[in-house]
Amino acid sequence: MKKHVIIGVTGSIACYKALEVIRGLRKIGLSTEVVLTKEAEEFIRPILFQAISGNSVITSDLFKSPEGWDMAHVSLADKADLVLVVPATANIIGKVASGICDDMLTCTICATQSPVLFAPAMNEGMYKNKIVEANIQKLKKLDYKFTGPIKGTLACGSEAIGHIQDVEIIVKEARRLVK
Ligand SMILES: Cc1cc2nc3c(=O)[nH]c(=O)nc-3n(C[C@H](O)[C@H](O)[C@H](O)COP(=O)(O)O)c2cc1C
Repeated sequence: MKKHVIIGVTGSIACYKALEVIRGLRKIGLSTEVVLTKEAEEFIRPILFQAISGNSVITSDLFKSPEGWDMAHVSLADKADLVLVVPATANIIGKVASGICDDMLTCTICATQSPVLFAPAMNEGMYKNKIVEANIQKLKKLDYKFTGPIKGTLACGSEAIGHIQDVEIIVKEARRLVK
């Protein structure tokens, strides 16, 4: 059976990069299933992720009637051979570092026994913020994995740290971490 990657997409301008990552993962034989945060839905509509991932998309509403009666956050967590958060906002990093579970993605990350890889993307000021830095360090110590961010042109037009990691490197790192 194909290894399964749960892709968490959060509300960053770099959302569209997740589509390229999903294509890259499928090309190397991994199956993908997308969980969007409510904010990510403001950037890209679920239908696009459905078409690219080959699976229906899970939106953040934990309280929607499930199909059948499996508890989606637990079943997703169990199905995952890897959870990849791409792009990862300062917000999701902070929530996971604090143990907050208030939507489908944070509950899935909390419940999984599989590796979790973050590909952060944010403005330089956010990335260099001491709390964000401390959250990343805390998660790294707890064996959560990170790739990037790198230096590049940010949404605001400046050349700075905070740009999402290259797609090829994210795919390679995901392949390496899949259980
Ligand atoms: C146009 C726009 C672009 C944004 N880009 C980013 C970003 O790249 N990184 C980030 O950490 N937050 C970014 N934000 C802020 C997040 O969307 C906001 O913190 C949101 O609450 C994140 O929710 P989520 O982590 O649940 O998806 C952006 C907001 C807007 C309006």
